[in-house]
Amino acid sequence: MYNNLCMQKYYHIITYGCQMNVHESEKIAGILEELNYESVDDISKADIAVFNTCCIRENAENHAFGNIGMLKKLKAVNRKMIIAVGGCLPQQMGKAENLHEKFPYVDIIFGTHNLNKLKEYILLKEKQKKAVIRIEDCDGSVSEDDKPFRTSYPNAWVNITYGCNNFCSYCIVPYVRGRERSRKSENIIAEVEELVKQGYKEITLLGQNVNSYGNGTDEITFPELLKKIASIEGKFRLRFMTSHPKDFSEELAKVMLENPKICRNLHLPVQSGSDEVLKAMNRKYTSKDYLAKIEILRKYIPDCAVTTDLIVGFPGETEEDFEATLELVKKVNFSSAFTFVYSRREGTVAARMENRIPEDVSKRRIMKLVELVNSLTRAHSSNYEGKTVEILCEGFDEKKRMYLGRDEYGRMGYFKSETDVIGEFINIKIQKTNGVSLIGDRVQG
Ligand code: 5AD
Ligand code: SF4
Repeated sequence: MYNNLCMQKYYHIITYGCQMNVHESEKIAGILEELNYESVDDISKADIAVFNTCCIRENAENHAFGNIGMLKKLKAVNRKMIIAVGGCLPQQMGKAENLHEKFPYVDIIFGTHNLNKLKEYILLKEKQKKAVIRIEDCDGSVSEDDKPFRTSYPNAWVNITYGCNNFCSYCIVPYVRGRERSRKSENIIAEVEELVKQGYKEITLLGQNVNSYGNGTDEITFPELLKKIASIEGKFRLRFMTSHPKDFSEELAKVMLENPKICRNLHLPVQSGSDEVLKAMNRKYTSKDYLAKIEILRKYIPDCAVTTDLIVGFPGETEEDFEATLELVKKVNFSSAFTFVYSRREGTVAARMENRIPEDVSKRRIMKLVELVNSLTRAHSSNYEGKTVEILCEGFDEKKRMYLGRDEYGRMGYFKSETDVIGEFINIKIQKTNGVSLIGDRVQG
């Protein structure tokens, strides 16, 4: 068989959820590469399959459950295949045992706080028949010396904070990722310096709430950190996510203006436009507060592209509440948005709320919201027609036979090139737009 012939061991990682998880999968890949495994696209050829799960919404969780279920057949053919399930899903109270009962053929189950022990668990599993099930509580420590195997050149992700203290009433994250803690700024800066030296062209700083970086410690503030990173020599772009509106400051807007390496793009999740709903969500701001923050941002950077997250169907959301969300979306004129139907997460405060919104009502609301967001996105795209923009080329689309990349506002652009230009800044003149993306011709810079 494939594996025996070449003796090379292969891994395949399936990632669910957000950017944070994508980067965590790079850390898992780093551990597997260290154990001399090599990545393989076809899961049936893998000696180890790792599911890096997400539990933020029920559908992400169901998706993972479905895929783990499908591996039973593969495991029956390839008995030596190690199946590992990690991340947020098993970190939830009682879920690891649940997973083990439902899928006894899963070999390793680990959580969000012990990812860096995966090597130990694999070596243990190779020695014992019994499944290795290890879930640890957050001990407040900060992971500083991960060695991710990066898979997104020319983009690189860098964690600056872990966990979250906000306890939005709908959200499971604080329960599965623990309290907020910040990495040391000197380590973050050294990591970015090294990445720039290696040729990475876009650095995205990651955290559940990056604006509160350093809170409760003697570390520098987030705007100070940004300033320091933006002063690292070399041509590269700097992005960050996610920001919480309550912590977005004028100082941050100023730093964004004064440092051209920081992209003119802010992801600022608003969730709802209704003050009643925002209160019940424990978001700690009103729609007026949010609009005031946008005004500050646009005072400094009038053309800043603002993106957001929106939830419909939160318990008790009335038609008026929903209309207020539509109004706010129009007022801010978001360049795009992630839209979600509220998903009840066991253990959160909102899970105990009454007045649940019927599915058909949520469905109707999300359709209306998506329609509005799409119309704004299209309008933003059409503003680009005839303009020349700088794209950081990040890949090649096999179907379209075109290269692709983003401009600093975060919009995806496609263009043709005779040579491989991945990792280069390319100027393109926009000929056509297509909803969310731009199509252009390469022009000389
Ligand atoms: N239901 C729906 N959406 C949620 N999000 C977080 N928790 C839930 C939930 N229980 C959304 C929020 C957040 C994004 C990452 O996911 O909009 O900003
Ligand atoms: Fe969840 Fe709110 Fe923290 Fe974001 S800020 S991770 S929505 S609790």
